[in-house]
Formats: sequence, structure tokens, C-alpha cells
Amino acid sequence: MTHSLPSSRATSAFALCRIPIPHALRRCLPKAEHAEAALDQVLRGGPLPAIHVERISDALAKTSGHAVLSAPPSWTDAQLRWAYVVVLRHLGQLNDRYGLLFDVVDRGLDHTKSNAPVSKTRAATGMHTDSSDATYNPDVVALLCLQPGSVGGQSLLADAEGLLARMRESSPALESVARKAWPRDVVTPGLAHQQASIEANSIPVIAEDDHGLVFRYMRFWTERAMVKLGRDVPKELTSLLDFIDADMAKNAVRFDLKRGQMLLANNRRMVHGREAFEDVTGSARRCLVRAWVDGFIDSRRLPLSLRA
Ligand SMILES: [Fe+2]
Repeated sequence: MTHSLPSSRATSAFALCRIPIPHALRRCLPKAEHAEAALDQVLRGGPLPAIHVERISDALAKTSGHAVLSAPPSWTDAQLRWAYVVVLRHLGQLNDRYGLLFDVVDRGLDHTKSNAPVSKTRAATGMHTDSSDATYNPDVVALLCLQPGSVGGQSLLADAEGLLARMRESSPALESVARKAWPRDVVTPGLAHQQASIEANSIPVIAEDDHGLVFRYMRFWTERAMVKLGRDVPKELTSLLDFIDADMAKNAVRFDLKRGQMLLANNRRMVHGREAFEDVTGSARRCLVRAWVDGFIDSRRLPLSLRA
């Protein structure tokens, strides 16, 4: 069987793609006292200031698969959120499944004892792509850092194209395992959690469509689906998951997101994670603002439906 996935040479860790925040955003930044109202307007679909996002969209769709933008940390939270929403809405539409903007903070929950998403805990997430729902895969996952927190919480990013190239070189038999659809536990709000729902919620780790690679990875939810279905995790699946985790442990880029920085990642190709963190009493709590972007539009303004 032949596949149309990239056959690039296996390469190891990459450099982060850092892009200046569009200059026009600085010129039309709302004053601090007007920023909440301006944010509300852009969240409601109001008009956007004209900015150029071609460099960002090219990075996401064509080159690095991600971009890190830096806005001045002196901007207020509302100004940073406003700039973030303006950039993202130039790329596509914000998804509201968890709210248009979802604050990733420690809510004292434990994802190992409930269906709480890891984004509501302070635990290490493990490397993953977002969305455990077979029918929904956000095009772009974005994180805006408002407060990096006191201890831990480093961000991790890995490129599945490089991982796939290395898999083909060293363990080619795993590719067919990755192309099988494996059950994924159901944690999305509003979806039933019964066994039949879990069985139906099966997703291959590697697939491709007209736009190329679709890599979907959530080890914890895959293995928990097997437990809930009363099955052992097949050896071939464990071998695949072990290979992926070991490869990403070696090749993922680890970095600190600082206040004002925005990480944008093509969720079909880039795998992300974060280290465990702790908030220290008396210090600002770690807060990253997550958004999912659908209907990603490239620099030619042609709709690029990257949804799986
Ligand atoms: Fe995530």
C-alpha cells in the first residue's frame, strides 16, 4: 500500500518558529479602559482591524506547523485577549465547545479519577493533540499565556511529520498499527459516555486527507477506553504508544511561555503537552487561555478545511 504522506528524511528536534506580533495590532490596540468592551465586540463577531497574518498562516499550514507570537507583557489581560482573538479570527472561526476562550487553570480536579479534562488540573498532560471526539478535530490549537505560574508548567511541542519519518526508518511495522482506528474514551461535554459511545469513538493515530497528514494522539484516553471496554491493551498498540512517547521525549521542544506569548499549533500535525505545575500561595496563578480555530484560511484567502 502506498500513502501520500511526506517522505522527508528523519530529522530530530526543531527550532521554535517565532514571529513578531503583527505591527498593525499595536497601532489599533484599544486603550486599557476600553479593552474589555473591545474584547467583547470581537468575541461577538464584530468587525476586526485589518492585519496581515500571511506569515503566521504560512507557518501553520506550510512550514513549521506552529508559531510563537509575543505581545508586550505590559498590555493588560483584556488587551492581550483582544489581540489574541483578532489574530485567531483572521485565521478562522473560534470554536465554542468549551467557550470561545477557555482559561486553562488548576481547578483542583483529577483527570485520573473522573472525566475531567487534564486542562482543568495541574498534572502533566502527556503529549497529545486536542479533542477526544472522533467527529471533531480542531484545525488550530492556540494558547495565550497570561501568567506562567510559579513552579513547572513548561510547554512541549513535537512535530508528527518528523516522528513519522523516524518511525518509517526504525520501526516501519508500526505504521499499520497507527492506521487502525482505536477506541478513545469519551470526555467531550454533551456526549454520552456509555461503552457503545466509546466503541464508536475510534480514531486512527495516523491518517491523511486531501490536505495531508492527520495525526491524532491521546495515550491516556486510548488506554482508558480499553479499560472501560474491559479489554487488554493489545501488545501492538502498546508498542506503538511506547515508540511515540519515546520519540517525543527525545525530540519534543521544551520551552517556557511567558506572559503575552501566544502558541499557535496546527493540530493535525503538531503534538503538544505541558509539564506538571504548582501554584504558590501569594503568587499569581498559572493561566493560559486556550482557543480552538476551525475553518483555517491560508494566505491566499482560500478556505482550507482542515477538519478531520
Ligand atoms: Fe491540549
